[in-house]
Amino acid sequence: MTNVLILGANGGIARLAIDLFLDQTDAKLTLYLRNASRLRNMNSDRVRVIEGDVLNLEKLEAAMAGQDVVYANLSGDLERYAENIVEAMEATNVKRLIFISSMGIYDEVPGEKYGSILNPYRKSAAVIETSNLDYTILRPAWFTNKDEINYETTQKGEPFKGYEVSRKSVADLVVKLAESSESSETEVRSSLGVNRPE
Ligand SMILES: NC(=O)c1ccc[n+]([C@@H]2O[C@H](COP(=O)([O-])OP(=O)(O)OC[C@H]3O[C@@H](n4cnc5c(N)ncnc54)[C@H](OP(=O)(O)O)[C@@H]3O)[C@@H](O)[C@H]2O)c1
Repeated sequence: MTNVLILGANGGIARLAIDLFLDQTDAKLTLYLRNASRLRNMNSDRVRVIEGDVLNLEKLEAAMAGQDVVYANLSGDLERYAENIVEAMEATNVKRLIFISSMGIYDEVPGEKYGSILNPYRKSAAVIETSNLDYTILRPAWFTNKDEINYETTQKGEPFKGYEVSRKSVADLVVKLAESSESSETEVRSSLGVNRPE
């Protein structure tokens, strides 16, 4: 049984991942979010809710205790968030991090040049990549709401493929990564592009 801490648990991908974790695994979830009243009732004894901001380092460290995996599904000041997450994980000796980023942070999308809008994503990835954590950074394509699980991945250094991916696909990959006990070299200390095959 895996203990998973979900940061930004009311986010779009996070809500889909929570459903998959509860339906398909026996993971225990700690949902960390700024406004707990926004969460619908979950009625599961495998779910614990902590109301908190990722900028609150003390609360974040307390939430890390006993976790096997941290899954960060955040938007906003991602560089500061990543700094706090790395600091809290190192302080509490939690190693495994899954962090949702975006395609384009390495200028890896053929024919596209994404400007400063991606800076928080670039800078947060750099913070994580210089840590000692067992991280997987996910770089999804544009999200769709298609009710399908259909994706492929590319490694850092490879050109990005495709242009879209369903939210449900990204949630599925998060759950698979969180649940895989074997540390695969293609997943750990990796940054994966995620797209719908064309
Ligand atoms: N849209 C696309 O096509 C696309 C493509 C690739 C990547 N992405 C990126 O993928 C990431 C995940 O997407 P998503 O749709 O699941 O995101 P989302 O729905 O925007 O969720 C992000 C969550 O982060 C939480 N958050 C922000 N600052 C926080 C803080 N200081 N402490 C705690 N929680 C905080 C927000 O909480 P509140 O509810 O309290 O605001 C929100 O629930 C985003 O960064 C998104 O930009 C998007």
